[in-house]
Amino acid sequence: MSHDNPDDEIMCPCSGTRRGQIRAYFLQGLDVDAISRKTGALSGCGGCEWDIGEYLQALAAEAAADKPAA
Ligand code: FES
Repeated sequence: MSHDNPDDEIMCPCSGTRRGQIRAYFLQGLDVDAISRKTGALSGCGGCEWDIGEYLQALAAEAAADKPAA
């Protein structure tokens, strides 16, 4: 059964922010603060902070692996 990082998974229930939105903003070059301002994520209970932070780190690692520093 595959259940790996579905884009429609809600990462921040307070704002209803989905994983796919966070990735899309990350790919536009937004940092966690900017993503928070755009989506409302992290602006409620803060319970999603760890999950979203970890996801952004994973995305950054993926991007670094894809595109070695020039
Ligand atoms: S779950 Fe994201 S701020 Fe509450």
